[in-house]
Amino acid sequence: MDKKVTVVGAGNVGATAAQRLAEKQLCDVVLVDIAEGLPQGKALDLAEAAPIEKHDACLTGTNDYGETAGSDIVIITAGIPRKPGMSRDDLLKTNSDIMKSVVKNIAEKSPDAILIIVSNPLDAMCHVAFEASGFDKKRVIGMAGVLDSARFRCFIARELNVSVENTHAFVLGGHGDTMVPLPRFSTVAGIPITELMSKDRIDALVDRTRTGGAEIVSLLKTGSAFYAPASAAVEMAESILKDKKKILPCAVYLEGEYNINGLFIGVPVKLGSTGIEEVIEIELKDDEAADLQKSADAVRSLVDAMAAL
Ligand code: LMR
Repeated sequence: MDKKVTVVGAGNVGATAAQRLAEKQLCDVVLVDIAEGLPQGKALDLAEAAPIEKHDACLTGTNDYGETAGSDIVIITAGIPRKPGMSRDDLLKTNSDIMKSVVKNIAEKSPDAILIIVSNPLDAMCHVAFEASGFDKKRVIGMAGVLDSARFRCFIARELNVSVENTHAFVLGGHGDTMVPLPRFSTVAGIPITELMSKDRIDALVDRTRTGGAEIVSLLKTGSAFYAPASAAVEMAESILKDKKKILPCAVYLEGEYNINGLFIGVPVKLGSTGIEEVIEIELKDDEAADLQKSADAVRSLVDAMAAL
């Protein structure tokens, strides 16, 4: 294949992302992890499924960043997941140290790559990756809005007994309890859900979306969600690899857009072959804008806390 994507972290999210990338025939995949044997074993297992799944993607598992050289995209899932009772923010210290060292290696071997950050706490980890890589802001993109919107879409489709394919949703803000699902911009076959559901039901779905990650953590008990996060990261990668120019909510570095400055936070962007091709500014109502600022304040306090670590 003419495109190469590295997935850092051969845990559940990383391995599932590698599987989806290969099975969609998007690129060759390098799975890298510090655990000896783990990326090699998972990559070989995926490669052995290829004759049945009918794809020719080359899958490599390695502990050596040398093999990641020249990647077009690097999806970073490395770090520890949370356990029940923990917030994503509790992972800050451990995962920021991991992110720094991963990104230094990646930036050295693939200086032109586009980074898709998946590790938590997401928005803060984007800051670490941005600083450690020295990459242009167009090439450091956080995966959260696509996941949160997919959760909202799933709940909307179940509530109204319609196909998920008819749903569209926007969730802005940080990837935490202050995230901002926007019912006005969330639709079924183009009809805003505000015309299809009572306010109480919308509020219930919004709350469930906000706590969607914690709901899975409390069910799994040993870790966090991985199928939907992997799908979300791969949807972003696909838009970049195929230059599809999809508009997706992603965590990006804002410099004045939405009145937010010097911060990674989720907003709609156009994703194409050069990474973030445009930040789409939608007109928000006063309460929506206030919620987005509140979410930005929460992300900023985490980023400030990181500086003090
Ligand atoms: C998610 O939303 O599923 C991920 O951010 C993992 C988590 O800890 O919730």
